[in-house]
Amino acid sequence: MRVGVIGTGHVGLITCASFAAVGHDVVGTDADRSKIDALRSGDMPFHEPGVADSIREGMEAGRLRFEYETADAARDADVVFVCVGTPPRATGEANLVAVEQAAREVVAQASPALVIAEKSTVPAGTADRLTRSVLLQRPDLAGSVEVVSNPEFLREGHALHDAMHPERILVGAASERAFEVMRRLYEPFTADGARLIETDIRTAELAKHACNAFLALKISYANALARLCERTGADVDAVTEVMGADSRIGPAFLNAGLGYGGYCFPKDLVAFDHLATSLGYDFAMLREVARINDQAIDATVDKIRDALWNLDDKRVALLGLAFKPGTDDVRIAPALMLAERLRALGATVVGYDPHAAESAVRTQPELEVAPSAYEAARDAHCVVLCTEWDEFQELDFDKLGEIMASRVFVDGRNVIDAERAVAHGFHFYPTGRLPSTPDRA
Ligand code: UGA
Repeated sequence: MRVGVIGTGHVGLITCASFAAVGHDVVGTDADRSKIDALRSGDMPFHEPGVADSIREGMEAGRLRFEYETADAARDADVVFVCVGTPPRATGEANLVAVEQAAREVVAQASPALVIAEKSTVPAGTADRLTRSVLLQRPDLAGSVEVVSNPEFLREGHALHDAMHPERILVGAASERAFEVMRRLYEPFTADGARLIETDIRTAELAKHACNAFLALKISYANALARLCERTGADVDAVTEVMGADSRIGPAFLNAGLGYGGYCFPKDLVAFDHLATSLGYDFAMLREVARINDQAIDATVDKIRDALWNLDDKRVALLGLAFKPGTDDVRIAPALMLAERLRALGATVVGYDPHAAESAVRTQPELEVAPSAYEAARDAHCVVLCTEWDEFQELDFDKLGEIMASRVFVDGRNVIDAERAVAHGFHFYPTGRLPSTPDRA
């Protein structure tokens, strides 16, 4: 089938790669011409495992190309995916200007019987608004252009894998014709065992927000337990292990730590809350989830101050800057929020990340970055593990102790064995467990 993709960000590019990989003809476009130039010459705009190779293979096989104009993606397409950003407005409401513009540009060139698929995360009701908007522009297309909801469930760092082996594919549509087009499009995936769930459009739109908000809720539940465990001496990881052994609860997304970040959960929670409020429902639980998430940063600052007292003349090293491992994305990264808080308290902050140092400095130019974990830790009074990259499990505490100004380690993701750190003379602050101090302290 012929597929157009508007927007080549994290969602759009994976959409391009995965549909080309299963044999569809894909045209990707972006309002930012420099992104198209870069993609054409083989440069990836972000770090995402496997995507560069997949894009190259698609282009070499002649199944994927990148064009400047939306018209090139819309012309003769069976389905055009809208994958543009939906950033929050000051009120928290999702800004849907780019979504509307993309759809209007698409219908300016639409072939008859076109399906426009929303992949961007949008509030329930958006497809109706889009349909009204495009039909106002092209009344002649009534009955032949249809908007469907087809939300993505991709995790950054695993996005291509998630796209190629989806746990579920969700399609919300209003007509059998539109469902049929989407079934044909996803046939290579469903033939491989993927479950296709078909709903009405508003259900699909709402389900996407419901999933992200629930995952954020699980994380905040674990973080609230962590605060309690830190006060009682219980062990949060053991508590969540017990919880996770119950198949009704499940173990995933119960890792307490510095909290969730990234471009999806924080933004989607606020947008979902805004939608609920606009519909007259007070979804206070969502605001509580966000409040508990903010507390995870507060709790970490408290630990650092407990260990170091005044921060004015102190140096703090942050290990990991990306919002999670496996990506160079630092949008709403807990590490960067922590850096800001520590600087406001007078500390000098130096960070290290195996992939995200460049994007971190672009976002926060005042951040000092080091080329390795040890260089970041040199002369630091405290190290805080912010993102659980694998390499941090191998940290040499002997070496760390020698180069640091004082031996304080805050484990913001509970990946370090306390005994190992303490054996090397470290004051060790985990998450959701009591701190440990060396015998002689
Ligand atoms: C999330 C969802 O997991 C995807 O299903 C969804 O498609 C995507 O948002 C989206 O809406 O586009 P992503 O933002 O890539 O994906 O990241 P996650 O792996 O969900 O992690 C989000 C944050 O939660 C990270 O900061 C991570 O460190 C944190 N987290 C995750 C925890 O603090 N504890 C956990 O137990 C799990």
